[in-house]
Amino acid sequence: MSDTATAASPVTTSSIMAGKRGLIVGIANDHSYAYYIAESLKNHGAECLFTHLPGEKMERRCRKAIEQLGINDPWLAPMDAGSDADLDQVFAKLKADVGTIDFVVHSIAFADKDWLKEGAFTATPRQVFTQAMDISAYTLAAMANRAAPLMPNGGSILALSYYGAEKAVPGYNVMGVAKAALEATTRYLAMELGQKGIRVNTISGGPLRTMSALAVGGFSEILGWVEKKSPLRRNITGNDVGDTSVWLLSDMSRGVTGQNVYVDAGYSIMGL
Ligand SMILES: NC(=O)c1ccc[n+]([C@@H]2O[C@H](COP(=O)([O-])OP(=O)(O)OC[C@H]3O[C@@H](n4cnc5c(N)ncnc54)[C@H](O)[C@@H]3O)[C@@H](O)[C@H]2O)c1
Repeated sequence: MSDTATAASPVTTSSIMAGKRGLIVGIANDHSYAYYIAESLKNHGAECLFTHLPGEKMERRCRKAIEQLGINDPWLAPMDAGSDADLDQVFAKLKADVGTIDFVVHSIAFADKDWLKEGAFTATPRQVFTQAMDISAYTLAAMANRAAPLMPNGGSILALSYYGAEKAVPGYNVMGVAKAALEATTRYLAMELGQKGIRVNTISGGPLRTMSALAVGGFSEILGWVEKKSPLRRNITGNDVGDTSVWLLSDMSRGVTGQNVYVDAGYSIMGL
């Protein structure tokens, strides 16, 4: 890390999210973006409910991370977002257990890592392409459609994107195409759900060393490049994204919808 700028990650607390409750999808472990988002939301008074990928190991890891956040006895349900039956079940259970929610965090993505290598995009098989689009983009619409009826007083939905949606990033490949679809999905959802007082936005987060990120070929080089070239001369922290998510999920951003907010140490403004 450069000594000219430090990654300020103060633990701030407030009651800005007091009385708000929502679903967080995407905690795999305590490195996940969703983990940091949950941490910030909790620090600002929100009640967080969670899903994990089906499977005993996935549940154990997710539960352990949630416990680390100091949340005991969490509302936690299995959900493969690629399954309509799982999605239906989770939102029906939410309705039965808590009735209404105020926010949803979509922090999931998937692409076969064999195709996340430099030079591999052109030959991407159909099944790899459609699965990446399904899990990483379509699921935002699938969740929003089920969440909206549980948001009678309006709400805020947030998904996580990356700069590879807009620019060709070697190795990001089919995931970049899926992120472009995710950002467009955000705008179309914002257009339709705005009349119900529901806002939909994405954060375009800088590279963060998570389990998914390590599947992207050349990820360490990307980290080094951002540290060298970004205006802040550093990589972002999970808490940088967590705290911005509080703003987007709270009423402080009540006039903001359909937007992509960069939390990337400014990297995306650079021409060279
Ligand atoms: N880490 C980065 O550098 C970076 C940068 C920008 C955006 N993002 C995005 O942030 C989000 C979270 O990723 P992360 O980096 O925290 O990695 P992560 O591996 O910690 O989280 C990815 C999550 O996706 C979930 N997931 C995958 N397939 C699923 C399915 N079928 N159903 C339900 N959940 C499924 C996994 O269980 C996991 O919890 C993703 O959308 C990712 O693309 C990551």
